[in-house]
Amino acid sequence: MSVLKSTLDTASEQFTDATEAMNTKLAEIDTEHSKALLGGGEKYVERHKKRGKLLARERIELLIDEDSAFLELCPLAAWGSEFPVGASTVMGIGVVSGVECLIVANDPTVRGGASNPWTLKKGFRANDIATQNRLPVISLVESGGADLPTQKEVFIPGGRMFRDLTQLSAKGIPTIALVFGNSTAGGAYIPGMSDHVVMVKERSKVFLAGPPLVKMATGEDSDDESLGGAEMHARKSGLADYFAVDEQDAIRIGRSIVERLNWKKKGPEPRADVIEPLADPEDLLGIVPTDLKIPFDPREVIARIVDGSDFDEFKPMYGSSLVTGWAELHGYPIGILANARGVLFSEESQKATQFIQLANRSNTPLLFLHNTTGYMVGKEYEEGGMIKHGSMMINAVSNSTVPHISILLGASYGAGHYGMCGRAFDPRFLFAWPSSKSAVMGGAQLAGVISIVGRAAAEARGQAFDEEADAGLRAMIENQIEAESLPMFLSGRLYDDGVIDPRDTRTVVGMCLSAIASAPIEGTDTFGVFRM
Ligand code: COA
Repeated sequence: MSVLKSTLDTASEQFTDATEAMNTKLAEIDTEHSKALLGGGEKYVERHKKRGKLLARERIELLIDEDSAFLELCPLAAWGSEFPVGASTVMGIGVVSGVECLIVANDPTVRGGASNPWTLKKGFRANDIATQNRLPVISLVESGGADLPTQKEVFIPGGRMFRDLTQLSAKGIPTIALVFGNSTAGGAYIPGMSDHVVMVKERSKVFLAGPPLVKMATGEDSDDESLGGAEMHARKSGLADYFAVDEQDAIRIGRSIVERLNWKKKGPEPRADVIEPLADPEDLLGIVPTDLKIPFDPREVIARIVDGSDFDEFKPMYGSSLVTGWAELHGYPIGILANARGVLFSEESQKATQFIQLANRSNTPLLFLHNTTGYMVGKEYEEGGMIKHGSMMINAVSNSTVPHISILLGASYGAGHYGMCGRAFDPRFLFAWPSSKSAVMGGAQLAGVISIVGRAAAEARGQAFDEEADAGLRAMIENQIEAESLPMFLSGRLYDDGVIDPRDTRTVVGMCLSAIASAPIEGTDTFGVFRM
């Protein structure tokens, strides 16, 4: 046992300021989350209820096991876009009949549940999560198909939705569609491509073309029910495997389908006797300073998220601006890489590479805690082989096959974001704290670089440099980069799986580790050629 002892000064001004700033940011995030909860707004929610239908979240609540938690993912998708926050779907991991499943529910109160470009991105993310972690997929379908005004962004990439579903099935990952309403045109392939299909009496409407289009195409007169109703599909076409009398019945049938899957997890069982962290998770609110240039000790975070605050540090005296070590979280073994003083040097990169190799030898998932401004720059470091050492770390992260989880605590800039398993490196899950920022570099630095380049270009042309215009441009660029570095903006673009309350980190990572254990956990010996 190597129990971490907290030295956090919770009475300090820095801690108080950071806590206050974090609470303000959490309130802002809550406001945005509540927009997603509102779906298409009061008018459409009321109309939906009046029709005797359950809302997307109510369907999920009834589907998952009583009193079990639902890990909602990407709730801020489409934030900052022309489309409502949430991207007209609710997506996440929930336990159904004792089985962790990936659940995707259309929100029919948002533009008829039609799929816009962000809905697609969220759907693709859902399929990736299901594939990588071997999670059965349950689609709660009620959608007007492609968002017609933006069809040019939806139609061609949208085909992947159906390809993914059938490929999941080919991998032996069950796919279940509960069709609560409209599932027109492309949407008809969701039940078409699913292993198990439940339709609801007088509610489900599944057809390649609705009555008006059929009339136009062939002159044939038809109505919704005879063309694509549940009864027709259950009796005649055979597309419906189960005929539910109402929504609740469809959910009951969905639960019993999962029960009969005989699904077994292939990863390790967690240790049964889990000790909670000894340090208080409430303090996580005040650890990241408001000024991200001020370093903080990530051991203070680790002490508040791992079992018994027990952390077996690896190479503590070498490459000390990256903390590496072994721990357990909710009984699952993990290796942790956490930035300590922002910059990554050659030693840190080499240490990380060795650590990642060791985790692969022992089939141990890795948790990356980001607070990095990137790899060190400057003559001395270039000569010391910074590029090849940073590349070594990125090579190890890229080829490592144990599951990775990334949490952005503070800064996540430049290639440091890559080396710490940023989004492009396919961590199984990536979450951001409200205090985090991610970009190619900080706003001030980026604006400064553009200014230096502009000045040099003016000099080369023999022109006078317009200082006033430059100052205005710098301020504008800095503000823009700052805004684009914020977690809400990045979450809107699905560059993370959600912005979380720091106090929930242990629970969220624990749920992810449990979902990850649905698939086998297997490390590798095969990496790209390391430049020594
Ligand atoms: N694309 C864009 N917007 C859509 C849409 C779509 N596919 N389907 C519905 N909407 C919009 C509607 O225009 C309406 O907007 P408004 O309230 O601003 O006028 C809103 O969503 C609600 O639609 P509404 O028809 O009032 O809801 P409903 O619950 O009565 O019916 C549908 C929902 C999906 C059955 C119906 O809208 C419909 O048939 N849509 C077209 C389906 C289709 O043919 N899709 C083919 C796509 S490949």
